Amino acid sequence: MATETDRDMIRAEERTGLDDFLLDDPYRRWLEREGVKVIDEFAFADLNDVELGPWERKGGSGAVINIPYPVLTNDSQLIEIKPGGRSEPEHHMYEEIVYVLSGRGATTIWDADGEKSTFEWQKGALFSVPLNCWYEHFNGSGVEPARYLAVTNAPPMMRLFNDAEFIFNTDTRFKGRFGGQEDYFSGNGTLYSGRLWVSNFIPNAPDMPLWSWDERGAGGINAFFYLSGNSTKAHVSEFPVGTYKKAHKHGPGANLVLLSGDAGYSLLWTKEDRSDVRKADWKVGSLVIVPSDDCLHQHFNSGTRRARYLALTPGLMGLRAPRAGAGEGADVSMKDGGRQIEYDDEAPEVLDLFEEECLKNGATPNMRRFFPSRKNFKHELPA
Ligand SMILES: [Fe+2]
Repeated sequence: MATETDRDMIRAEERTGLDDFLLDDPYRRWLEREGVKVIDEFAFADLNDVELGPWERKGGSGAVINIPYPVLTNDSQLIEIKPGGRSEPEHHMYEEIVYVLSGRGATTIWDADGEKSTFEWQKGALFSVPLNCWYEHFNGSGVEPARYLAVTNAPPMMRLFNDAEFIFNTDTRFKGRFGGQEDYFSGNGTLYSGRLWVSNFIPNAPDMPLWSWDERGAGGINAFFYLSGNSTKAHVSEFPVGTYKKAHKHGPGANLVLLSGDAGYSLLWTKEDRSDVRKADWKVGSLVIVPSDDCLHQHFNSGTRRARYLALTPGLMGLRAPRAGAGEGADVSMKDGGRQIEYDDEAPEVLDLFEEECLKNGATPNMRRFFPSRKNFKHELPA
């Protein structure tokens, strides 16, 4: 007869299979079928230098970036189309926002019973193929490769439906998102209050106009996007020389790509004593992904030029708001129940490190005006 101890052991043995069960999920199965290189990391010095593996179907090579966190709200597919290459036509029931890192090319889209239409893109372009439309990407150069980052909500969609046939072989047209308009990717758009730019094609995100966002601090400017009727979000933020933004936290999966600026960094941490703080240095082409919902993070421009980044963020289900990655309280002090640390409440070493980095880069730090109660500073600034 089995004793209590035996039963505990049986239960323990049964539990050992749980990891296998969790790993056997629809999204992981897709990664295996693709045979694509997977990178579990959240900070990259330069996306242009990341070593890719073969991904012929996509036009050459690629890798899928997963943050090291069990809740995959999205993934980041880094793809390079070889010179003169093209991707195989595909369509899928997940959203995908594309940012072109290098090169130039064109994309042809069509839906189940529609005409084909083609638009051209080059480095700096931001767009999204409408949900479940067929598409094919072409490299416009016979000499240079074209590399892009595509942030997709494939993981939650594949896990939600658990049916590859539905994800990749459904004919449903989403006419409310795309009705076959000739000018869909013209780059025209409408500006709504709250800095929301509704357009389906941003020809050059590093140079587009932005609007002021004072609550986030230090003279930042910004634009939120609503692309191709997606629930996944994108925004661009820029902040001046010698400044940094307030620390804040929100759900995981915000992909930050540096578009301009010559030096800067992000700090990311989860522990109150900041003992796990990680510094991710930036340059144009760097990627930092917010890895978890308890991750406080803060972005610093310690260079001599304005710094601009693109944020590609997961949508929150049921929330129709441009700022979905952050949501309510994103610019409210933690002391008032929000998710932001005001400058005067942050650890003193944050400003000390920032001033040190600025001085190292030949930039003039310009943050002391935000610390009225602070008396002692570690660094002497040039007069
Ligand atoms: Fe953030």
